[in-house]
Amino acid sequence: MTFAPPDRKDPLQFFLNGELVRVYDPDPRQMLIEFLRDSKGLTGTKRSCLQGGCGACVVAIQEYDVATRRWVYRSINSCLKPLVACHGVSVTTVEGVGSERKCVHQVQKRIAENHGMQCGFCTPGMVMNTYALLRAGGKPTAEESMKNYDGNICRCTGYRNLVQASESFASDASNEAVALAEKCGHHDANLCDKLSGPEYPKMDMLRQSVSFKTEGFAWYAPMSLEETLEIKKSKPRAMYILGDTAKGIRQAAYEVANGRANDVISLRNVSELNILEKNGTGLTFGGALTIQHLIDALQAYQQEHPNSQWPEAVADGLKNVAQHHIRSEAGWAGNLLITIQRGFPSDLFPCLLAADAEVSYVTTSARDEKRISLVDFKPGAVPFNALLTKLHIPNLAGAFYKYYRVGQRKWLSHCFAGAGFRVVLDGSKTITDARVALGYWASTPMRSSKAEQVLLGSSLDTETLQKAISAVHADLEFAEERMFQTVDNPTGKDSYRRNLPDSYLFKFFQEAQNHFGVKSWAAEELGNLPVKPLKAGDLKFQEAPGLDNKPQLSSMGLTTGAVRYTDDQPVPSLFGYPVLSEVATGKLENLDVTEALKVEGVVDVVTAADIPGANCAGFAAGEEPVFVEIGGAIITSGQQLALVVATSYRAAKRGAAAVTVKISGANEGAIITIDQAIEAGSYLEEAHFRNTIDKGDLEEGFKSSDMVWEGTTYVIGQHAFPMEKQAALAVPEEKKGMTIWNSTQGHDFCRAKLAGVLDVPGSYVVVKQTRAGGAFGHKNSRQVPVAAMAAVAAHKLEKAVRVAYESTLEQWAVGGRHSFKTKYKVGVTKDGKIQSCEIESWCNGGCTHDFTGFLNLEMGEAIPSVYWWPNMKVNVHAMKTNLPTNTAVRSFGSPQGYFICEAIIEDIAGRLGKAVEEIREVNMCTRENAVTPWGQPMEYYNVDMLWKKLKQDAKFQEREEACKAFNEKHRWRKRGISAVPLAYGHCYAYAAGTGALVNIFGSDGSVTVHHGGCEIGQGIHTKVAQVVAISLGCPLELIRVADTNSEVVPNARFTGGSITTEVVCEAARQACKQLLETLRPHREFLAKRDGKEPSWTELVAAANTVLGHQEKLSATGIFSPAGNQYTTDVEGNKLGEFHGDYFTYGAGISEVELDVLTGEIRPLRSDILYDVGQSINPGIDLGQLEGAFVFGIGYYLYEEPLRDNRGTERSQGVWAYKPPMAPEVPIEFHVELLRDNPFPKGVLGSKAIGEPPFMLAYSVLGAAKKAIASVRRENGLSEHFQMPMPCTVDAIQKACGVEASHFKC
Ligand SMILES: Cc1cc2nc3c(=O)[nH]c(=O)nc-3n(C[C@H](O)[C@H](O)[C@H](O)COP(=O)(O)OP(=O)(O)OC[C@H]3O[C@@H](n4cnc5c(N)ncnc54)[C@H](O)[C@@H]3O)c2cc1C
Ligand code: FES
Ligand code: FES
Repeated sequence: MTFAPPDRKDPLQFFLNGELVRVYDPDPRQMLIEFLRDSKGLTGTKRSCLQGGCGACVVAIQEYDVATRRWVYRSINSCLKPLVACHGVSVTTVEGVGSERKCVHQVQKRIAENHGMQCGFCTPGMVMNTYALLRAGGKPTAEESMKNYDGNICRCTGYRNLVQASESFASDASNEAVALAEKCGHHDANLCDKLSGPEYPKMDMLRQSVSFKTEGFAWYAPMSLEETLEIKKSKPRAMYILGDTAKGIRQAAYEVANGRANDVISLRNVSELNILEKNGTGLTFGGALTIQHLIDALQAYQQEHPNSQWPEAVADGLKNVAQHHIRSEAGWAGNLLITIQRGFPSDLFPCLLAADAEVSYVTTSARDEKRISLVDFKPGAVPFNALLTKLHIPNLAGAFYKYYRVGQRKWLSHCFAGAGFRVVLDGSKTITDARVALGYWASTPMRSSKAEQVLLGSSLDTETLQKAISAVHADLEFAEERMFQTVDNPTGKDSYRRNLPDSYLFKFFQEAQNHFGVKSWAAEELGNLPVKPLKAGDLKFQEAPGLDNKPQLSSMGLTTGAVRYTDDQPVPSLFGYPVLSEVATGKLENLDVTEALKVEGVVDVVTAADIPGANCAGFAAGEEPVFVEIGGAIITSGQQLALVVATSYRAAKRGAAAVTVKISGANEGAIITIDQAIEAGSYLEEAHFRNTIDKGDLEEGFKSSDMVWEGTTYVIGQHAFPMEKQAALAVPEEKKGMTIWNSTQGHDFCRAKLAGVLDVPGSYVVVKQTRAGGAFGHKNSRQVPVAAMAAVAAHKLEKAVRVAYESTLEQWAVGGRHSFKTKYKVGVTKDGKIQSCEIESWCNGGCTHDFTGFLNLEMGEAIPSVYWWPNMKVNVHAMKTNLPTNTAVRSFGSPQGYFICEAIIEDIAGRLGKAVEEIREVNMCTRENAVTPWGQPMEYYNVDMLWKKLKQDAKFQEREEACKAFNEKHRWRKRGISAVPLAYGHCYAYAAGTGALVNIFGSDGSVTVHHGGCEIGQGIHTKVAQVVAISLGCPLELIRVADTNSEVVPNARFTGGSITTEVVCEAARQACKQLLETLRPHREFLAKRDGKEPSWTELVAAANTVLGHQEKLSATGIFSPAGNQYTTDVEGNKLGEFHGDYFTYGAGISEVELDVLTGEIRPLRSDILYDVGQSINPGIDLGQLEGAFVFGIGYYLYEEPLRDNRGTERSQGVWAYKPPMAPEVPIEFHVELLRDNPFPKGVLGSKAIGEPPFMLAYSVLGAAKKAIASVRRENGLSEHFQMPMPCTVDAIQKACGVEASHFKC
């Protein structure tokens, strides 16, 4: 039989949100996400990582599963799904789930009502995640609802509200989740789900062999093995694919197979590859079966063989692979192949290796099937044209099986190493069969025959364990892992990986002993730390009239995908993709764009020569070119060289790869680290912060100390990692003007810079934004270079051009939080009271100034924290390096300052052998002496009170005792609890001067508020609307807050420093005051005439009668503080003395559990007591608090920038960079916003909240250190130790000082 040639008349057909879509001549290289967004305008599906690693692009599909012969519902990553692979399926996007105009689905409603979003960029993906789970049928349990979050990242919320919304559908929902369900009403599947129902009969007809072809590329989707081999024969270089998910590994995907093949054969529908056989001898899976098929079948096998342990255990091992959206797309076959072909760190391979799996394959003929054991499945073992047809897993009756692995984070984190073990014991408890399979130590997973020999005929005891450990090491072919080798840590995590098999083997022995009744172990010490549903503890707050717990005004727009971000704007445009420098230093000799211009769809390549005005996109004048000019200097890896502009994102990306860059002197003299910069004397001259803290007499202080010593500490950087990366859309207007849609928190700054780049008056550039999908400081300035590229291209081509970064680009080219090296000399009394402290600190500022000077000031001022320093000196130096400019990231210098301070406090405690809380207490300021070392009174100081109250409310002492008791009983699990205080200085300087414009519409009394802040997820629009409603006495429902627009509210400052919301609320209040004054005579007249107060609409109608009275129902307000050192009178005289304006206060306590054998941590509970004054919206503030806290957990424990010695970020994208997911946040979270506590100087009594709680996450790190100290004590090591940052699994395990010789069983 021959395969029908591609028939271009056959359209691609599938259902999209319930409607049949026919695409004639589809581009078979296109991804589903591109089609949805760029062809169909369904922009609810978001583009973020394009690696399958964040979940922003999740959609649901319903398809006929050939293997199980039923229609199934599942969620997928549309960034990895080829469009043509959707032939015959039904796709549902967030727009198809519900809309505000038709019907809002309960999933959408419950997430919205539960404050389950902030910036909202992840929200559509979150909705689809839960929606698909519910549509898949059945009623999930609370645990299943939680585990369903394994593929979705939210950078803002802290997950609890999201998980709770999903849990509200669960059969065993918690009381809070049930309350949410009751509040929202019950889910009516008939009403909502019909929106996207498929039409089976029509779709059934589509299940036939198809092919789609475009210039130079063909996609074949045969139905039979014979057809498949026939195609392969005619196209020997054709690539087999199933999920095509492997293209997302380490890199951003952009087209089918990432352009590595001209012909692709999809195996999905091949009937012979869709077999699933189970019988007494084992299971056989066809080559088109997914990893989820394996899991489901093994679980079913377990049910059928209840006396076996292994099927469920193998399934559990497989659940570690990627995340569930990928597992339901990706095949076992692809996983095995990328493991042997690319040295991929597979979980699946070692998992199956320990289960004695075998693989069948064919090459040219279906009849010539060969079978090979996984032990022999090594590079070159199967021919290059092999088609894997079957996987065989034998019945391992009687065996005890386990698979172990650790990643940087629990979910969606490739493993550092994995190991599968299996033993069978006879009646005398002697091992009669054994497997030891090791993954990702060697270049290909291997079995340790020496260890297996040791086990055979032995008992499960310490002697066997120790011999097995030695045997594994004797066998191990160790392959180095380069990903984690950085300029700061040249050996990476290899020593950790070398130790892991010991821990895994010990874990296995414990579990096997327990299973076979050789010895019983405490259940809580066995296996891995469990993942549990997140519970909301007590959330205590106080509402006031109008200042209530309202969900964000746009919450339904966000859950339905209706809110448009920058890259979602429905403006026809070209797409730009940058060409970036891959080296840190050098001279740009040439850019050869010849090949790029030949790429289909490429329109032009824009370079420095095309810039009409100033070639400057930096914060400081003259710094940072938009594009490096030919002959110009390269000063960092990731520097912008050119922009390739094309008709599609894909074409632009292809084009960028085709540009040849010639750089001379590459990397010569590159300075990457702080130490290198110090040695070279490389400074950012304007950014030092010298001696601003210089209090008392240091020498006298040291003299009066009982102990004086010196120490050094390092604090690392962090990527902002918003879910919406840098994005700009430039639309040319008349008179050389330009409208720029920009993801920003500094839109007016961007406007001013772009006017210079375009060489037009500032009023000719308009910067607009609906909201940013996360902006954590770096979109104050770092968006400008990206927006400038789009603007220059739009100017040159006279067409709209959009540039939207994927994660890999963002982490490569955009700097983040500054790292610091700090030396300190401290003197204390014998009871730990600080007498004197001298601090010298150096930051890695990157290649230009940006905000570094201001940041150094704030970092320095954060160091004293809540403590009393009688004599203190702080110097902070700004070092210039060849890294992308470091910049503002949430909390702007404070996390580093806080870390340095607490490192000193811990050092004191350690040296004196005292509890760290005791040292905190003896040094903590009291209400009486709460003055900073630079002489600023900490007004309304209450940290001492908060500290005591929280310790009492959270039962700190009792729980500390409980931790001690737990630790005494458990050798391999330890707990720690830690309390930390917080004082955080706020400064109005960033946002002061930002205004608001309030317009009342006479027709119906509705109100539009324009303000100069940017909605970045902090709820600024909602709070402003609340304040306007209260101020005018107008119903909230009548108020709309308009998009940010630089020409409506001019001269706006930055949205940052947590305080823009207050500034804007106050500006709006000022405007409202004027309006009230305008309305006053009408109110008085109506009240007198009618004998009662007029309603809002009556009042407005009276003030704006069509033919009668017309008042000016429009007013602007501005808020300028009078208190800080930056504000002056008209003559320039300073009105204030200090940098900061006021302080917020808080305290936090966290408890964690540590798996000593792996270094993994699980935060069990956190308690926060926080002073936010009188919250304007407690629901939003609690969200901000939790989000900031979780951001802090990421910083202190998980997120690790990995710069190599060329300054290039290795952790580009989501592959190695790991912000927290749901298992990394505290299982229980108790928060109290201090009651009856309006802040007299605040707007309506409120205080800012977006950043300070970040620091309280130090309590999680502190608790981890206490748990580590407990292990160290048992291991005879000093409890006084220093941890590097971030405190990742490998660092923790190393600090524990665990050695294989300790393992006794
Ligand atoms: C974000 C992300 C995280 C991940 N995390 C993990 C993890 O933690 N642990 C883990 O083990 N894996 C992980 N993976 C890998 C994932 O499991 C693989 O992408 C997947 O198994 C590959 O399956 P696929 O069907 O999509 O293969 P494809 O991408 O379709 O193909 C991959 C390769 O296999 C070949 N191939 C596929 N099927 C056959 C066949 N039947 N016969 C011959 N050749 C074939 C293809 O030609 C190609 O070379 C991750 C992947 C991503 C994208
Ligand atoms: S998972 Fe698709 S964009 Fe991140
Ligand atoms: S709300 Fe989840 S990423 Fe912003």
